[in-house]
Amino acid sequence: MPNRTPERTARPRRFLMCRPTHFTVDYAINPWMDPERPTDTALAVRQWEHLHALYRRLGHTVELIAPLPGLPDMVYTANGATVLNGRALVATFRHPQRAGESDAHQAWFRAHGYREVRRAGHVNEGEGDLLVAGRRVLAGTGFRTDPAAHAEARALFGVQVLSLTLVDPRFYHLDTALAVLDDDHVMYYPAAFSPDSQALLRSLYPDAILAGRADAEVFGLNAVSDGRNVLLPEPARALAAQLAEHGYEPWPVDVSELLKGGGGPKCCTLELRPA
Ligand code: ARG
Repeated sequence: MPNRTPERTARPRRFLMCRPTHFTVDYAINPWMDPERPTDTALAVRQWEHLHALYRRLGHTVELIAPLPGLPDMVYTANGATVLNGRALVATFRHPQRAGESDAHQAWFRAHGYREVRRAGHVNEGEGDLLVAGRRVLAGTGFRTDPAAHAEARALFGVQVLSLTLVDPRFYHLDTALAVLDDDHVMYYPAAFSPDSQALLRSLYPDAILAGRADAEVFGLNAVSDGRNVLLPEPARALAAQLAEHGYEPWPVDVSELLKGGGGPKCCTLELRPA
């Protein structure tokens, strides 16, 4: 029997996004940010609008949270919370520059009928570090989210939470080094993880797509999958080809301006999972 590429099925999603009206880089809290380098807010908005339109074209629902002046990183909504089964665990940020985003997210979830909205009691940067993969949560630590936040997520959501340790400061959030493609399939960049975490990932996902260094360094892993369509930064060409070989449909997007803040398509996208 010839090797058959699996048939991939898209599931419609509900996302939360924030228009980068106030986007700029005026502080540096990750190695990609350089306040000396000029940013083009209008270009960031155009790139974001393209991403937003693409989600809608692919049949997804996008909800919006209002951008606030003085919070230039608010465009990266993935960091605002982790949402599972109608429960929102709202972020507690590591850096004071982003602290104001927590109140905004908490208010948004309260106003939108979520059955439980809880502010994290430990540093917890939402879906930047806590990625829902089917019946489990993969949880990053090392640079931002505190390991104690993993236990808190386990208690709130009642699912298995597996801790993964990041070791390269360029890949400071789990979603910069790993993307969930489907309930039980992922892609990741092994060198971003400690040896123990690499071993855990190998045993959990023996058929994972492994990204090369060049694709990881252009934020190729900061991707959003609906089970079939995978949006990823356009320079990650080899990774797009690997995805296609595995039956996915890659959608390269230009997020060059948003990358100046250290974020790509996934950072700009929080998945909402109502009850
Ligand atoms: N400038 C932001 C920070 O350093 C970028 C966040 C990117 N978001 C993400 N989900 N990785 O916090």
